Amino acid sequence: MISGITGQDGSYLAELLLKKGYEVIGLMRRVSTEPPYRLRYLKLQPFIDEGKLVLECADVTDVNSIIRVLKKHEPVEFYNLAAQSHVGIAFDQPYETTSVNYLGVINILTAIKALDMTNHIRLYQASTSEMFGGTARRMGLQKQNELTPFWPLSPYGIAKLAAHHLVVMARTTEHGHWLRAACGILFNHESELRGENFVTRKITRALTRIKHGLQKKLELGNLDALRDWGYAKDYVEAMWLMLQQQGAAEKWQDFVVATNEMHSVRDFVNASAREIGWEMEWEGEGRQEKGYVQIDGERKLIVEVNPEFYRENDVHLLRGDASKARELLQWKPKTNFDQLVSLMVAHDLRLAEAEKNW
Ligand code: NAP
Ligand code: GDD
Repeated sequence: MISGITGQDGSYLAELLLKKGYEVIGLMRRVSTEPPYRLRYLKLQPFIDEGKLVLECADVTDVNSIIRVLKKHEPVEFYNLAAQSHVGIAFDQPYETTSVNYLGVINILTAIKALDMTNHIRLYQASTSEMFGGTARRMGLQKQNELTPFWPLSPYGIAKLAAHHLVVMARTTEHGHWLRAACGILFNHESELRGENFVTRKITRALTRIKHGLQKKLELGNLDALRDWGYAKDYVEAMWLMLQQQGAAEKWQDFVVATNEMHSVRDFVNASAREIGWEMEWEGEGRQEKGYVQIDGERKLIVEVNPEFYRENDVHLLRGDASKARELLQWKPKTNFDQLVSLMVAHDLRLAEAEKNW
């Protein structure tokens, strides 16, 4: 069972589990539109037709809907990926963010307990590097692993940290150990299926549209933010591996999943532009910084800073040390930064070409 199956990770995870021969139950909120585009993009319709992939209407903020689907399908693995996952939006909608990201987890744990399913279900909780937040700046820790203290800086990070502690607690209560659960502390991971308001996809969509004359400029916020960007398809494998841990609940562990490499938002723009055949030229600083490229012998302004995209609080630096996952899960990323940029740009060039011909 996957909550958040319509999202980036949910879709890739569904694809992975179906390939492994699982029957997958995907939970999605009721929508008024066509079946989810990411599932269609990954060509999962035949699995739906065969009944190997079942989509159920359920909302993690509605405990009854979770009880209903758990009772009906009795899943052996539950991947809780449902979230309001945009950090910037969380500042504008802290209530909604907390409701899904934290209370939603209370609901899932309540439902599992109420149905007495703790012995045969395993829970994966989508924790996040955002929980480390200000650790780098405030404590000088330039890399984060499972032992790094948490210091969330956003309503998103705070709700996710509360959920994280709740799941760890469910694994090791004072009255005995019960739920076999693992929290994956995943650093940023991107893909062709990344939502278009996250910075990497915003960049690859904009530059490829500029290339095809569909857009003039890209406006960004903090160009200096540093992130550890991996490929989502690699990261869902780590989720699955975490739920294959053996032994009693108290032996179960949480894992950082990351590439150990860090790049700035500006680096991501540079690398994407290079894929298109442009060399970025930057001028100015802070809000006045501007990015230019040569197009048909003319110097064109294509990137500007717009303070609208600054956050009330931003996480300055995230760089993960995934040595524990490498050692205990035999997991390591297969896709490096340049390969990630390359596949996202190639995909979005195709999209822009198609859009041009509409
Ligand atoms: P995403 O693309 O934004 O997907 C989020 C999913 O949650 C969507 O399917 C969304 O459904 C669903 N959802 C939202 N509210 C819900 C509700 N009330 N009930 C049921 N489903 C609900 O996010 P993602 O990038 O795949 O990330 C997956 C999970 O990993 C999230 O929990 C995220 O916070 C966490 N995470 C992500 C990253 C990353 O870099 N991608 C890193 C660390 C942790 P709709 O399609 O209806 O909106
Ligand atoms: N979204 C966005 N849009 N971010 C921008 C922009 C912009 O125009 N300009 C600069 N940034 C900066 C943000 O301020 C942030 O420092 C960085 O780019 C990355 O922003 P996002 O791509 O929105 O991702 P995020 O790091 O805030 O959050 C993602 O990663 C977390 C794990 O660390 C999300 O996927 C979270 O759900 C996830 O938990």
